[in-house]
Amino acid sequence: MRILSGVQSSGRLHIGNYYGAIRQFIQLQGEGEALYFIADLHALTTVRDPAKAREFTREAALAYLSLGLDPSRAILFRQSDVREVTELYWILGTVVPHANLERAHSYKDKTAKGISADFGLFAYPVLMAADILLYSADAVPVGKDQVQHIEFARDWAVKFNLTYVPGYDPADPEGKEKGHAPGILKLPEARLQENTATVMGVDGQKMSKSYNNTIDLFGDEKEIKKRFMGIKSDSTPVEAPKPTEGNAIYDLMKVMLPPSEFAAADATWRAGGKGYGEYKKLLLEAFHATFGPARQRREELLKDPAELERILQDGARRARDKAAPLMDQVRRAVGIS
Ligand code: TYM
Repeated sequence: MRILSGVQSSGRLHIGNYYGAIRQFIQLQGEGEALYFIADLHALTTVRDPAKAREFTREAALAYLSLGLDPSRAILFRQSDVREVTELYWILGTVVPHANLERAHSYKDKTAKGISADFGLFAYPVLMAADILLYSADAVPVGKDQVQHIEFARDWAVKFNLTYVPGYDPADPEGKEKGHAPGILKLPEARLQENTATVMGVDGQKMSKSYNNTIDLFGDEKEIKKRFMGIKSDSTPVEAPKPTEGNAIYDLMKVMLPPSEFAAADATWRAGGKGYGEYKKLLLEAFHATFGPARQRREELLKDPAELERILQDGARRARDKAAPLMDQVRRAVGIS
């Protein structure tokens, strides 16, 4: 089984990225052939400062490694280091219905807020589909907000195969039955983490860089504390039972506390007798217990930028080796050299 996923290097990574996606990446690296990348081309849709672009790319690489990605077990690379992806992106784009892109959440959400979209944002899902299809990924571990993109990748893979593979039958995409041909582009599946497919932010909305409601994995210690202490709460008195629906503190406890600690906190939460401040402290402690070691590892990795670059270059070479045969097949199928 081939597993592939990426994170955009458009800012600092937050705990939503970790619990929704990266934690799975680390778990899955032992289960199959894993490829994880830094989506630095996608990040250009929001980062327009080259120094920042480089800094965020480095930060994402450091985050992956300090959170437990092992470059001897998984391939870690920068999206832009494998140029084939932009070629596949174009070719794929020639079979992508315009109407699909108009329905894409990433595009619809921005335009609904009155932000005028450029071509990069509009075409974002096509590049993401190329990322996945170029490596013939079977499983793509992601948070819920990315599921639509993976469904698009499946639809467009079928469309490409129908257009260019004689004998391809969508009902038999692997070409197992007589007279059917296997598709060139493989259909990927999204892999969601059941309880953390959507991690809520400090204001009770989905945690997202664009809502400024994140808790950063590697942020400054004081800032982190401020974030936890500032989580939105309500005026339920200390002695009263606390609401379990639509409460940002409770939602984060479910995600961040180890099961036995959560069970204990849940019992007092429902019984009453403790104020919100106490639960916020529990969250802060859980944060340090979970991410303390990774934060330390990041400090170590920072001391050796040459080693970080070596890992990324090595990853790019290995990823390119996987991408090249597929790209040859695609070029032949469409009739370019
Ligand atoms: P990005 O960088 O926005 O997010 C990286 C991963 O984190 C997940 N995530 C969350 N999960 C749960 N709760 C949240 N609040 C939360 N916020 C973020 C995302 O679902 C994602 O899995 N387009 C992608 C990057 C990408 C990609 C790909 C992913 C580019 N090409 C190919 C997979 C395969 C993105 O912007 O993710």
